[in-house]
Amino acid sequence: MRRGLLATLSCLAAALCLSCAPATPSDPEPGEANALDLERMIRQKRYAPYEPSELFNDGAVMRHPPEGTVPNDRVTGDPGLTRGVAGGAHVASIPIPVTLELIRYGQGRFEIFCAACHGVAGDGESEVARNMTQRRPPSLVDPRVQAFPPGRIYQTIVEGYGLMRSYEPQIPLRERWAIVAYVKALGRSRAAALDALPQPVQERARKELP
Ligand code: HEC
Repeated sequence: MRRGLLATLSCLAAALCLSCAPATPSDPEPGEANALDLERMIRQKRYAPYEPSELFNDGAVMRHPPEGTVPNDRVTGDPGLTRGVAGGAHVASIPIPVTLELIRYGQGRFEIFCAACHGVAGDGESEVARNMTQRRPPSLVDPRVQAFPPGRIYQTIVEGYGLMRSYEPQIPLRERWAIVAYVKALGRSRAAALDALPQPVQERARKELP
């Protein structure tokens, strides 16, 4: 009786084990749905780069790009305008007309894309900066960064710098220069001599500043 029970139990255990044993991996046919096989795109029938192929007249599997194709990382147009660097040097002035409208536009973009780290005033005071223990986003209004030619600030936006990522995909060309103009304006707003201001602004400043 006791023996019989044991035998039944071990049979049951073996049956359970069988039902939970992993399926032996096998190459599914292309197109065969197998929810457990996460590798099927890797293991499907396919050509490797440079392999010969009878599919094309030249016997090679790799195709030439159509005539006139431009690689998406090719610098087109004026590199000073698109990359901020021309003839091996950062451009020394903003290559688009700087208007009050452009600077105001740059302010909006700066506050969206840069202020979270560099602070609304560009002085490096932000919640992110306080919590970035590895390397803080620097103040953009201190003399070190303000001495950068505009092309260098532009290049930082396009390529990133050290721990800072590139904002090339998010910020199109004109917006980048608008931000550069605003960063320069922020610097000026820090270090402006009172009598260098236009007359009406000077009068207002004398009245309102303590
Ligand atoms: C997520 C945080 C973050 C954002 C957003 C950010 N930065 Fe930075 N930035 C940094 C950090 C961190 C550094 C310092 C990187 C290092 O030294 O490795 C830095 C460095 C810089 C520098 C100094 C580069 C140098 O040569 O010393 C400039 C200029 C700059 N950022 C401009 C910008 C501008 C303009 C924007 C907006 C388009 C921006 N950053 C957005 C974090 C950020």
